[in-house]
Amino acid sequence: MPDGFATRDERAAFIAALPKAELHLHIEGSLEPELMFELAQRNNVAIPFASVEEVRAAYAFSNLQDFLDIYYQGMGVLHTEQDFHDLTAAYCARANADNVRHIEIFFDPQGHTERGIAFATVIAGITRALDDAGARYGMSSKLIMCFLRHLSEAEAEATLDEALPFLDRITGVGLDSSEVGHPPAKFERVFARARGLGLKIVAHAGEEGPPAYVREALDLLGVDRIDHGNRSLEDAALVRRLADEGMTLTVCPLSNLKLCVVNDIADHPLRTMLDAGLRATVNSDDPSYFGGYVNANYLAVANALDLSRDELVTLACNSFTGSFLDDAAKARHLAAIEACV
Ligand code: ADE
Ligand code: ZN
Repeated sequence: MPDGFATRDERAAFIAALPKAELHLHIEGSLEPELMFELAQRNNVAIPFASVEEVRAAYAFSNLQDFLDIYYQGMGVLHTEQDFHDLTAAYCARANADNVRHIEIFFDPQGHTERGIAFATVIAGITRALDDAGARYGMSSKLIMCFLRHLSEAEAEATLDEALPFLDRITGVGLDSSEVGHPPAKFERVFARARGLGLKIVAHAGEEGPPAYVREALDLLGVDRIDHGNRSLEDAALVRRLADEGMTLTVCPLSNLKLCVVNDIADHPLRTMLDAGLRATVNSDDPSYFGGYVNANYLAVANALDLSRDELVTLACNSFTGSFLDDAAKARHLAAIEACV
């Protein structure tokens, strides 16, 4: 295959050199065990682990809920503005090392406000680190506030109220947490209000939930992107619609493997998505919990599916095309990819 790679090292070098954007990253899911211990000590918080090795050993999940239980427990060490800054700064350094030039990151305010941490504290720490990353690495960023779908719509409405003073720093709203049993329809009104405020709309859909949840995200929430979207493939008419509408899917290969959305990385549907004309992107979701940042996700799926240079370039281009950057910035990044290949 003229477009293929002679060795895995060659493929890894090609991926590393590609300019990329990350569009699906929960900042709380980038909390590495080492920082978890440091913050637990700093804030005098007890954690049920004796060592970093013990923490990593606990990261064996058989489904999304298994993971979420430990993810919400982990974020309990985050208390001060400095903690949120340090968490975000560590992620930005990792992303920069992977040649990620633009990031659109999620945060879960309800995971913090329900523990008594002020919304303003969370947003101040995160945005200070994002501003530093812009100055230090030339990395651009946008922030997406997620509603926890296992909570009520009234609680999401209250969270949107709390966000109002900070809308200059928030680009969009999303929907995450336990999917099955909490369909997009449950949040139709709060997303309509967010749209009215000029916010971009994204939602996790079709990770564990059925294709009907993806349709609801499109029809009832008016999403600009679908996060995951894997189970859309079970519905041929939905696939055609997503392709026709140029809808971006933020796909997360190592997350899918760790949460048993796929049984083997070789069974990952990424190529099927590309072949169906879907605008798929590659992202890390919760890299500390799932074993790898952006390049590790590209590499795992590229090795397993023997992805070509062309396919990898398409994925990198999709990450900018599907971003919330303006057209001029998108064009600059696409030209940088062109120059690199
Ligand atoms: N919160 C953090 N990661 C998530 C995921 N993969 N799905 C749903 N909610 C999440
Ligand atoms: Zn996610």
